Amino acid sequence: MVIMKILVVGKGGREHALAWKFAQSDKVDEVYVAPGNEGISLEKKCSVVDATTVEQILNFAKSKKIDLTFVGSEDYLANGIVDVFREENLAIIGPEKKSAHLESSKVFSKQFMRRNNVQTANFEVFDNANNAINFAKKTNYPVVVKADGLASGKGVFICDNFEQAFKAIEEMMVESRFSDAGKNIVIERFLNGFEASLFLLLDARNYKFFNFSKDHKKLLDGEKGPNTGGLGAITPHPSIDGRLMKKIDKKVILPTINGLEKEDIFYKGILYIGLLIENGEPYVLEYNVRLGDPEAQSILYLLKSDILELSENIVESNIMDSKIEWYDGYSLCLVLCSEGYPFSYMKGEKIHFEPRIDSKIFFSGVKKGGSDLVTNGGRVLSLVNRAATLEEARKAVYQDAERIHFNSKYYRKDI
Ligand code: GLY
Repeated sequence: MVIMKILVVGKGGREHALAWKFAQSDKVDEVYVAPGNEGISLEKKCSVVDATTVEQILNFAKSKKIDLTFVGSEDYLANGIVDVFREENLAIIGPEKKSAHLESSKVFSKQFMRRNNVQTANFEVFDNANNAINFAKKTNYPVVVKADGLASGKGVFICDNFEQAFKAIEEMMVESRFSDAGKNIVIERFLNGFEASLFLLLDARNYKFFNFSKDHKKLLDGEKGPNTGGLGAITPHPSIDGRLMKKIDKKVILPTINGLEKEDIFYKGILYIGLLIENGEPYVLEYNVRLGDPEAQSILYLLKSDILELSENIVESNIMDSKIEWYDGYSLCLVLCSEGYPFSYMKGEKIHFEPRIDSKIFFSGVKKGGSDLVTNGGRVLSLVNRAATLEEARKAVYQDAERIHFNSKYYRKDI
């Protein structure tokens, strides 16, 4: 049996979950995570690498003779890490820069949806603040104003009236709050319903459905308060039934896949389609070109199949040969974060773990402080468990949330 060395790119809980899942494979000997976080190096077979730029990561992969690289984070994909690795004939999972535009440009992705009849909210694109303001004067509210480029989830404004839309347009297009990311904007109809994260595996020729997950993006219980990167996830999504799945297939998945083919976008990797279900109809909110965080933690903990085999099939364009198997029931992920996130928060707080923790811990914002781990970010760690019922998975995770302590610990109570 060939024993492989894997490199995961990124630094959060999603990348820890990927590293852990690769480490489960008998065929994997060593897993490196660049730049990772120091919590990940506590995982069996896993080490973190002090490399942050594409060039440093490429040099590391070459010097260590890495067999396969899996990119977790969108920033590296938008910076073309996949193109650079492929030029060197290194196996890598993720879309090339051109395909990564599906996430890194909202204008490109919305126009792609329109060209290819993918169901999405009606929208207009603007490259000029005056035109955007004139449109905002006469449109119906609420609307969503979105920056074109990547803005760490902060470039989306839900506006109930002209004054709010005017402020959002000014901040993005006149005051350049998001620099070039806000030079162009999209204004779209606000959709009212529930969200679902849909994941597909694409090998440039074919695709396989992976799973649905339910993210919890808001800071406060009851989906209230400011947006965060996500504070909890459930897999599979409890509200997607067969009838809705048929509509998603017809109005979202098939037109997306056909569109990629028609536009010569040879997409290899994970496509994450952010959906909003309004009155039983699925609309695409956005494409992301990677796994979600915290959806990845919950999905990978429920996945029974060997992620190495799935990854090899993506690289070799054999995804149709993959049999994707899941544990029965549900997996639930709860993120423990530092009070104050997503704004300002304390760092350097010692984290104490009681001995009896049954849930899997995936680390995000932590580092070593002497012999302890201390907090080093807004989202500190995720707790994940799976069970036959959602209620059992939830109970196990919430019990463990009380067995981990740091001064400014905060988490949602309603995942
Ligand atoms: N949880 C949302 C995201 O990863 O974009």
